[in-house]
Amino acid sequence: MHRFAKLGYIALNVSDTERSRNFYETLWGLEHTETGASGEMFFRCSDDHHNLVIYKSATPGLKRIGWEMESEADLDKIASVLEKNGQKVREVPAAERTALRQGRSIRFSDPFTGVTHEYYADQYRLGGRAWKPTVAKIQRLGHIVLKTPRYQEALAFYMDVLNYRVSDQVENYISFMRCFPNPFHHSFGLANSKEAQFHHMNFMVTEVDDIGKGLWRFRKNDVTVVRGPGRHPPSGSMFLYVLDPDGFTVEYSFGMEEFPEVEPRRHRVLPPGPESGDFWGAPTDPRMGAFGPIEVEQAAATGKVLQTA
Ligand SMILES: [Fe+2]
Repeated sequence: MHRFAKLGYIALNVSDTERSRNFYETLWGLEHTETGASGEMFFRCSDDHHNLVIYKSATPGLKRIGWEMESEADLDKIASVLEKNGQKVREVPAAERTALRQGRSIRFSDPFTGVTHEYYADQYRLGGRAWKPTVAKIQRLGHIVLKTPRYQEALAFYMDVLNYRVSDQVENYISFMRCFPNPFHHSFGLANSKEAQFHHMNFMVTEVDDIGKGLWRFRKNDVTVVRGPGRHPPSGSMFLYVLDPDGFTVEYSFGMEEFPEVEPRRHRVLPPGPESGDFWGAPTDPRMGAFGPIEVEQAAATGKVLQTA
């Protein structure tokens, strides 16, 4: 079975790249690494070239999720398991993956949310320039949660075909998953919902002070806090959720359980209800996780399989 390294990057369609750049660079604490030829902007919170990419679009939403695999051989392995399960896998053309500063990359669009997943093993490095945190000591891109109306089917697909492992679940409501063998409690989550949508993306911070300082920085700069600070019972993480300029929900969290590759604990099932979401009882603004259309990639919509250029 293929092996994941980590959740690599998230690509968003935004209505105003400058406005979003100001938010993600100045207030959120990512480093802007490059602006591409089409105006797309790359940001990082690690030594990678990018962990977030924003594209200007008239229809803001989630564009793509990039997963770093342990090796290039894992690309062939995941492609073959996907094809065996009736999924179309597309090679990212050389010109596009070069613009993305990535090695060989492949994509497929999941039938349960419509999201395009991309798999690659290598991103260019920035001449060895190390990541330096600014307003928040961001450790890594943490996780992304999607909503789907085909929850049980999607869950089975992500576990059996894509090789994710469930760490914890709130019964019939949400599942938190590891991308095997990555140790973090969850890099991906699926929530049961009436429609397929992007729910939120998360960045892990180093200190509890990053949460507290963030809260006041966001208040001072008119950033809407939609939930928190609070603490999640499933992962033990302390959290703060805010809205980005387009209304996407973004989260800082601090602390996360790690799982061994061999003999991990069994997943727990928590009862539905607010006590499974937060130990501290923080109120939730209804705008949390409410906005986030998912782009259906043209190639997926037409069923056209791209060839390597
Ligand atoms: Fe989260």
